[in-house]
Amino acid sequence: MSNRAAVALSLLVVAIAVAGLTARAGLMPGLLAGAGLSVGLGLWVGGRASGSAQRAARALTTMTRELQQQIAQLTAQRGELTAIVDSMAEGVIAVDARGTLLLVNAVARAVLDLPAGDLVGRPAGEVIRHPPLQEALRRLLTERQRATVEMRLFHPAELVLRIQGAPCQESADALGPAAVLVIQDVTELHRYDLLRKEFVANVSHELKSPLTGIRSLTETLLGGAVDDPANSRRFLQLIDAESARLAGLVEDLLALSQLESGALPLHQRRMELEPMARSLLTSFEPQLAPRRVSVSLAVPPSLAVQADPERLRQILSNLLDNAIKYNQEGGRITIGAAREGEWVRVDVSDTGIGIPAPDLPRVFERFYRVDKARSRELGGTGLGLAIVKHAVEAHGGRVWADSTPQHGSTFSFTLPASV
Ligand SMILES: Nc1ncnc2c1ncn2[C@@H]1O[C@H](COP(=O)(O)OP(=O)(O)OP(=O)(O)O)[C@@H](O)[C@H]1O
Ligand SMILES: [Mg+2]
Repeated sequence: MSNRAAVALSLLVVAIAVAGLTARAGLMPGLLAGAGLSVGLGLWVGGRASGSAQRAARALTTMTRELQQQIAQLTAQRGELTAIVDSMAEGVIAVDARGTLLLVNAVARAVLDLPAGDLVGRPAGEVIRHPPLQEALRRLLTERQRATVEMRLFHPAELVLRIQGAPCQESADALGPAAVLVIQDVTELHRYDLLRKEFVANVSHELKSPLTGIRSLTETLLGGAVDDPANSRRFLQLIDAESARLAGLVEDLLALSQLESGALPLHQRRMELEPMARSLLTSFEPQLAPRRVSVSLAVPPSLAVQADPERLRQILSNLLDNAIKYNQEGGRITIGAAREGEWVRVDVSDTGIGIPAPDLPRVFERFYRVDKARSRELGGTGLGLAIVKHAVEAHGGRVWADSTPQHGSTFSFTLPASV
C-alpha cells in the first residue's frame, strides 16, 4: 500500500470513529457528516489508489452503509421508546452522571410545568426549579441510592407528587443514564386519605356525644336517682332520646355505605309521585304541627317516575325533614314536580332560614352543617343530603340547591320519567 493510501485509510478510520462517537452522543448530523466523510474518503482512495487500497475502500463503503442501516434502526427504536415513555401515566426523567437531561416525557413536562422546547442536553438543575426535586436528584447522583420523596406543588395547579428515584447500573461510559426519576401524581390518593380520616373522626365524634349522655344519665340513675320517680322518668326519657339519635346516626351511616358501595341493587319501578308524597306528609304530621308549618302539593296527579320506592322515600323524606327543621315558625313548604323531557324534576321549597352562598355547594358533603350547633340541637348529623345525592345519582339524576338567606331554599332533583 502506498503512503498516500495508508494516510487515506487512517483518515477513514478517524472518520468512522467520529461517526461512532457522535452517534453515541445522539448527534445525528455529526454522525451523517462522519459517515459522508468516510464515503467521500473511500471514493477518493478508490480513484487514486489501486489494488488492496481499492478493496479496503469498498469494504469501508459497505461498512458505512451498514452503519447507516444501524443508525436508522436505532433511530426507529429510539422513536418507539419515546412513544412508550410518552404514553406512560407517570412522568419520567433520566439524567447522566453530570445531571444533564437525557429524557423528559410529556407527563413530567406537564406536572412540573417545565419550559417548552427541547430539554435534552440541558442541566436538570437549571430546568427543574423545584428545590425538593433538585435535592433528590443531587442525592441520587452523589449517594447513588434509591429514594422516594413527596412534594406539594401550588402552581399551575395544586398537586401532590410522589417521586421515586433510582440510580442506574454503573455504566462504563459517562454518556448513559446515571439516574431515572419516576413521578406519580398522587393528589387524588391524598384527597381520599384525608376524606377517610375526616370521616372516621366525624363518625367517632358523632357517636361519642350521645353515648356520653347515655352513660352519665345511667350513672346518675344507678347512683340513687332511680329511687326518685319524677327524676328517673325524666332521665329515662333523655336516655330514650339519645338512643334514638344513635340509632338514627347508625341507620344513616348504613344507608350511606350501602349507597356508596352499590351493595343494594336498585329496584326501579313506576312510582306515582302525588300519592307517595301525600302518604309521606301524613307521617311528618307530628313534626309539622308544633311548628305550624304548612305544606302545599303542586304535583300533577298521574306524574310518575321510574325509581326504587325505598330510595325515593329516602330522598323526599330527607328534603322534607330539612324543609321543616330549617323553616321559620309558621313557615310554608311547597312540593312541586314537572315533566322535563325524559326526566321528572321535583322541587322542595321552603320559607326557612336559607343557606349562605359559600356554604351552598358544600351542603351535600357528608357531615357538612352550616350551623353545627343548631343542626345538632335539631338532632341532625349532616348525612341527610349526602344520602339524597347518592340516591338521586344512583338513578342517573342530579340534585342541586338554590337559596336566599332569611328567605328560604329550594332543593331540586331529577329522576327518570315513567310513562
Ligand atoms: N332547607 C334547608 N334550609 C336551610 N338550611 C338547610 C336546608 N337543608 C339543609 N340545610 C343545611 O345543610 C346542612 C346539611 O343538611 P343535611 O340534611 O345533610 O344534614 P342535617 O339536616 O344537619 O342532619 P341529618 O339530615 O343527618 O339529620 C344542614 O345542617 C343545614 O345547615
Ligand atoms: Mg337533614
